[in-house]
Amino acid sequence: MRDFPTDFLWGSATAAHQVEGGNTNSDWWEWEHRADSPAKESSADGIDHWNRYDQDFALLAALGQNAHRFSVEWARIEPAEGEFSQSAIDHYRRVLESLHRHGLTPFVTLYHFSLPRWFAERGGWLGADAVGLFGRYVERAVSALGDLAPYFGTVNEPQMVALMGYLAGGHPPGRRDIESAKQVNQTLATAHRVAVSAVRAGSGTSRVGTCLNLPHIEPFRPEEAADVATAARMTAFFADTHIDDLRSAPDPGDFVGVQYYSRNLADGTSPAMTAPPPADAELSQIGWEIYPQGLGPVLRKAAEAGLPVMVTENGIAALDDEQRVRFLASHLREVRSAVQDGVDVRGYFHWSAFDNYEWGTFEPRFGLIGVDHEAGMRRIVRPSVAYYGQVASTGDLEP
Ligand code: NOJ
Repeated sequence: MRDFPTDFLWGSATAAHQVEGGNTNSDWWEWEHRADSPAKESSADGIDHWNRYDQDFALLAALGQNAHRFSVEWARIEPAEGEFSQSAIDHYRRVLESLHRHGLTPFVTLYHFSLPRWFAERGGWLGADAVGLFGRYVERAVSALGDLAPYFGTVNEPQMVALMGYLAGGHPPGRRDIESAKQVNQTLATAHRVAVSAVRAGSGTSRVGTCLNLPHIEPFRPEEAADVATAARMTAFFADTHIDDLRSAPDPGDFVGVQYYSRNLADGTSPAMTAPPPADAELSQIGWEIYPQGLGPVLRKAAEAGLPVMVTENGIAALDDEQRVRFLASHLREVRSAVQDGVDVRGYFHWSAFDNYEWGTFEPRFGLIGVDHEAGMRRIVRPSVAYYGQVASTGDLEP
């Protein structure tokens, strides 16, 4: 008996703005180039994946993966309101054809953080017709690409869009207002529903789901009422808003995407609302606690939506690639136990396929494959990608 079913999707993920390079027409590009931008670096040429996608996919396929998650850039497909770019569509069709040629099942994210400038200028997700405009884009993108795309993701991490863009102010549009953040979180649940209808209208066969950021949330001090209350508020924001919405939607989609990185310790007495990780915790390059035990509970929570589950992101920023191998092994063991307990998990996409632009800086190294910016963006095959490929091609954690 293999640990994982033979049709399990084994892939890795990227997002347009983090790898493509050179798209000046998005809100993120504008944000990075502001004089007072909190972004340390510009996304510049990304990792030049716009031009190198075919070699990049050849590498992923040769290394044992059978699927790939990437995003299409709304700002390229609809560069001005109501005007759709045939050349952008043609490009993404070539990308999809290349994936098929290499035996990688495509998973296309329709909206992964970056937005067209014109949409941002109309008020972004607080704009009156935001959801309708998104639905129109999705329908056009899906009718142009759906025949080549068996899976669509609608909204990537709605909670992070709301939190980073409207409460913490670290992503565009840089607002700091809790009511706006809550409103956007809810609006993006609606945007998912509308996108599901648009996918149904635009493609007969593609499967579709949302991609939720689901940290494992616990009270820092379980005996402290303020911490328990804060944990409940955080759970409501991250999980319940979306999972309850999926449960009540007439058509919630075909699966729910789970993106898991770490644990949040809710601290009702701290303005940051979270306590730092315990002193003995193992941390990633960027200080996130490594907490594989949280992934199982999160998968079970997501399954409460009543849909199959797909791990659409899970990964670590690490300078030491052996740490990434350990991270993979410990997290995949959690996925395996969830599957053995009957949770219907259909696939796993590691974040990320390549080192990339981590929303403000290239410093964090999330890639199974490294990118050497000093050496013409040469791709560096790391031991972790070989380890992952072995698991992917055998369906076993201890082959
Ligand atoms: C979630 C986001 O979807 C992705 O864009 C980001 O790079 C990773 N998490 C790591 O922070």
